[in-house]
Amino acid sequence: MDKILVTGGLGFIGSHTVVELLNNDFEVVIIDDLSNSYIDVLDGIISITGKKPIFENIDLKDKLKVQAFFKTHNDLKGVIHFAASKAVGESVEKPLLYYENNINTLIYVLQELEELESSNFIFSSSCTVYGQADELPITENASIKLAESPYGNTKQIGEEIIQDACSVSEKLSAISLRYFNPIGAHETSKIGELPIGVPQNLVPYITQTAIGIREQLSVFGDDYPTADGTCIRDYIHVVDLAKAHVIALNRLLQNKNTIKMEVFNLGTGTGSSVLEVVQSFERVSGIKLNYKVVDRRAGDIISAFADTTKANNELGWKTQLNLDDAMRSAWKWEQHIREYNKD
Ligand code: WQD
Repeated sequence: MDKILVTGGLGFIGSHTVVELLNNDFEVVIIDDLSNSYIDVLDGIISITGKKPIFENIDLKDKLKVQAFFKTHNDLKGVIHFAASKAVGESVEKPLLYYENNINTLIYVLQELEELESSNFIFSSSCTVYGQADELPITENASIKLAESPYGNTKQIGEEIIQDACSVSEKLSAISLRYFNPIGAHETSKIGELPIGVPQNLVPYITQTAIGIREQLSVFGDDYPTADGTCIRDYIHVVDLAKAHVIALNRLLQNKNTIKMEVFNLGTGTGSSVLEVVQSFERVSGIKLNYKVVDRRAGDIISAFADTTKANNELGWKTQLNLDDAMRSAWKWEQHIREYNKD
């Protein structure tokens, strides 16, 4: 069994990807510092798959600990790197924390990968690197705009670091996966999104409003130049997203990549407005959502959705689940965790 390191493997996308890796008979080692995740997620992964990944609570900012880890696990065949801080707003308030946590850790992992037999690296990137793209849908050739936040900048800088590392390394090959908006939860409701504090993202805010934790959803503006005036995004089910990581990893393991560093957009190819997401939730839950339109949120772009041609043709991957499937799973997950927390 090929052994794969998943950093940030107890996080939202990381945990769903660990499940798909285990389901595909990989051996998985998770590194997570639990700064933005919970150890209970490990039980969820084990319960779903019946398999127990190795878990190590390591702060990737500690270079010596990273070196020691790779010395022990020198039989790794690849790394999927999720570990990073990801709150756009927080990154504006604490830029140096974001540069330290998102860039230093990337460099330390890449430096150790150099020493391994085979160095296959999958990077968790984001459509945020495009800013407000000039053309829609967004292809991988769209220009990389000036980052609108330190968080977005760490993704842009991260991709450049990987590109430079790949160009001088005999062994290192990488794929950067630019996610659009990941939402939803595993069908078993044993893992899902666990925002800490007040959710910044739309979908967890919707489900927390519906379950009664939040009073009312604020819709940030309905005066945008879109059909219903609200912003448009490409909401992708987290399980579809997780499956794409296994396909990308196998592409590198089987040396099918055409260049040392490849980039793929991961989205559904369909844009949905904020109000369409609310309507989807109401449709699948049968609940009328309490929301109010308020002022725009600073930094929001008007519209972003993926051109999925490259991922469809070269990875042979396309999303299987739609917005209603994702909202149904998100709602089922919210009900499950509220039940669980009651016990
Ligand atoms: C979506 C839409 C809001 C909350 C961010 C990051 C991106 C990725 C996903 C990490 C927008 C509206 C939201 C609310 C609302 N994160 N909204 N009321 O901003 O597209 O992307 O999260 O990788 O990198 O930039 O996602 O869910 O915050 O917002 O009206 O309470 O929902 O204005 O139009 P976003 P989001």
